[in-house]
Amino acid sequence: MFKLSKTEKTGLGKGFQRIIRKALSEEKQVSTKTSAADLVTETDQLVEDLIISEMQKRFPSHRFIAEEAAAAGAKCVLTPSPTWIIDPIDGTCNFVHRFPTVAVSIGFAVNQELEFGVIYHCTEERLYTGRRGQGAFCNGQRLQVSGETDLSKALVLTEIGPKRDPATLKLFLSNMERLLHAKAHGVRVIGSSTLALCLLASGAADAYYQFGLHCWDLAAATVIIREAGGIVMDTSGGPLDLMSCRVVAAGTREMATLIAQALQTINYGRDDEK
Ligand code: IPD
Repeated sequence: MFKLSKTEKTGLGKGFQRIIRKALSEEKQVSTKTSAADLVTETDQLVEDLIISEMQKRFPSHRFIAEEAAAAGAKCVLTPSPTWIIDPIDGTCNFVHRFPTVAVSIGFAVNQELEFGVIYHCTEERLYTGRRGQGAFCNGQRLQVSGETDLSKALVLTEIGPKRDPATLKLFLSNMERLLHAKAHGVRVIGSSTLALCLLASGAADAYYQFGLHCWDLAAATVIIREAGGIVMDTSGGPLDLMSCRVVAAGTREMATLIAQALQTINYGRDDEK
């Protein structure tokens, strides 16, 4: 029902890779969305339109949740229908600054279950894929999360999120401080939540947490991490809620629980209530 041929996959991938790599080196028209740090360019819209129009040709009955459509007011509701969940450029701020950590993320859900995810690291030409029950891979090589359970031996990834008001920043920094007090080896921010989550899936980091990311940042990466043997959960320690704008992920449940226990909540509302 939702198979793309190898030629179709390559053609689509090459299409957006060409657009993004060319645009990286050019002047961009940058606008802001929810805050001065929440950026969008004409390339985000172009890539999103390309992905949706190509998918619509092949799967006319499928639904879409996509970052720029949501920014323009489309509702983010995950129904049981087959749904593509798309971030056309994750790391838009990096993209604007030519910082080479930029990805395209496409997740797919049926019956509200995430079935597969594809994340393409545009500048390094790394294709991360995961399909429920069939493993996770980067350029064909199987991914495996780290088995670390001790927070004092962990490398932790996070992202700042778009809100920059003093109360939010205080909580963000205090969360980071709590992990450093617990003697985590380090806390890193790379500017792309999807690629940070792929690094976790690759075993290059032990945990990830964030408040303020969206379903399109999380959908594909969730399948990839789970298929690499990792845990993706809510910051309360309960099951992941894709629409809740918050997440803890780790190689082990012990690590995810320790991180969740250390965090204070930053409220970003829900994607399906905006
Ligand atoms: C954002 C980036 C950023 C993270 C935000 C995301 P975008 O995605 O991943 O690192 O802090 O929460 O929404 O806007 O570049 O697609």
